[in-house]
Amino acid sequence: MKLRTLSVVCAFALMPVLATADNDRDNDNDSDNDVDIGQLFTGNNRVEQSDLANMTRDEIRLAGFRMFTNPFLKSDGYGDGNDSPPSPSAGGNHEGERGTLQNNGTFQRINGLDAQTCLECHSVISRRKVPMSFGIGGHGGVNNTVLGAGGGTQVDLQQADKNTNINGRVINPPFIFGAGGIELLANEMTIELQAQLAAAVPGETTPLSSKGISFGSVVTNAAGDIVENNVEGTFDLDPASPDFLVVAPFGRKGDQKSTRTFDTGALSFHFGMQVDEGIDEDLDGVVNEVTEGELSALSVFVATPQTPFAKKAKGEARRGQRIIADLGCTECHVPTMETNGKLLGFRSPEISQNPLANVHTTVDLTDKPMRFEENDDGGVTVELFADLKRHFMGSNLAEFNGDAMFTTMRLWGVADTAPYLHDGRALTITDAILEHGQDPASEAFDAVSNFRNASARDQAALLAFLDTLRSPNGTFNRLQKLAKRVAKKQGVK
Ligand code: HEC
Ligand code: HEC
Repeated sequence: MKLRTLSVVCAFALMPVLATADNDRDNDNDSDNDVDIGQLFTGNNRVEQSDLANMTRDEIRLAGFRMFTNPFLKSDGYGDGNDSPPSPSAGGNHEGERGTLQNNGTFQRINGLDAQTCLECHSVISRRKVPMSFGIGGHGGVNNTVLGAGGGTQVDLQQADKNTNINGRVINPPFIFGAGGIELLANEMTIELQAQLAAAVPGETTPLSSKGISFGSVVTNAAGDIVENNVEGTFDLDPASPDFLVVAPFGRKGDQKSTRTFDTGALSFHFGMQVDEGIDEDLDGVVNEVTEGELSALSVFVATPQTPFAKKAKGEARRGQRIIADLGCTECHVPTMETNGKLLGFRSPEISQNPLANVHTTVDLTDKPMRFEENDDGGVTVELFADLKRHFMGSNLAEFNGDAMFTTMRLWGVADTAPYLHDGRALTITDAILEHGQDPASEAFDAVSNFRNASARDQAALLAFLDTLRSPNGTFNRLQKLAKRVAKKQGVK
């Protein structure tokens, strides 16, 4: 990072003018306090991994904020470039070589190249009132739903039964709030599960569990090899894999272990922005599209937003808090989990089974703006309403390839985050509840049947309780303040 430029739009001098210009034709969207955080790839805003050690948390977060909100251009590396010749990278499963509509190089919609900034899909704070409110890091509406292609025929419109198929995935964007607490929980769980596996006594059944959540069991032999594998709930069940027994909380499938892994995929999938490998992997003529340091800054930003919160449950809502447990919902939607520590370490490169390796930056989760509550043991309380475990949800929720495994959706913030379920098909919370326990084979069938059979009054009480679980507000203002703090420190006027 060289001298990062940052211009505070100092509007004091203009204020009298603006005040008098306050009429219907006033086209000035800038509030007096707006801070222009500067585009990522203009000026000297680029960040190298070696810069991080000399940057404050605020500066790192601001750099990540830029990454999250920057509209990437073709000159920055947006897009995949030339289809032909094929990319030199091995394996063939990189994101290059995607066509675009009318070969316009910008947009495809199915299988990515579907936006220009992260913010386009992560911007809804609340759908509880009309009109909805917006902010930074929020969830997405129906039109932000991502269409992933599975190969072969991609879209099969309007069949006789009015069924339209895409043989890929259909995924609605969740918000990123509270992500740091989730990442720390997952890291600690992975460490504990790996330690249990390492300490397994040959020939005996070794139960695997962490923070009260069971992940099945294994039996090992004298050589330490797994001879009976009953691991469940994690995404990679192959003992030979480097991701075996790794808790991956992110993504609707629970298949992404950290914000960094997720962000790498998001940059490449949505924009064709490659994290620097020193080569022009996507053959668009641009190298160093995203540096290691910029990915680090983005990961820190994504893992340190505000945290969802619960309003105090009173009256019927309070009764609903007991009902949600009585019906069996909290077996998966576990109300709170505790971390052992409060420091989240960000790593590069990441080693899945060892979340303590290669830490470059640490963040205290009790600090602003995360403000997780510190517990008596020096960790933090995460009020997530989930178990960070994958469950079978039945045939009606299955994706086109038949896969119906999803991570328990965290219910924090649920009052604000319609539409619901992995593909956004449920427009109300009640629909979401009913649909994930429709198939008798769904792991949620019993609890959802209990909900279905509950009295109307009890159902309403449960919903009143869920209505206390809220998304954070003021996300924009806080980031404006962050930008101002950095500007002040750097003496920029
Ligand atoms: C076109 C819409 C779209 C854009 C643009 C987009 N996302 Fe997402 N985001 C999604 C969807 C859909 C999911 C859920 C994906 C899944 O379940 O696998 C998601 C999930 C996430 C998650 C995981 C949240 C969780 O709790 O599981 C993170 C983190 C995230 N996005 C970060 C980013 C970042 C960083 C960018 C920009 C580099 C970005 N997203 C751009 C749609 C989008
Ligand atoms: C076996 C575990 C399990 C049980 C029991 C369970 N759920 Fe879920 N729940 C899930 C999973 C997994 C998802 C995510 C499904 C998807 O992504 O399509 C989910 C999603 C939801 C959602 C949608 C959230 C969103 O933002 O999309 C709500 C609301 C919900 N559950 C409420 C309940 C209630 C209320 C009960 C009890 C009547 C219950 N769940 C019982 C696992 C469970």
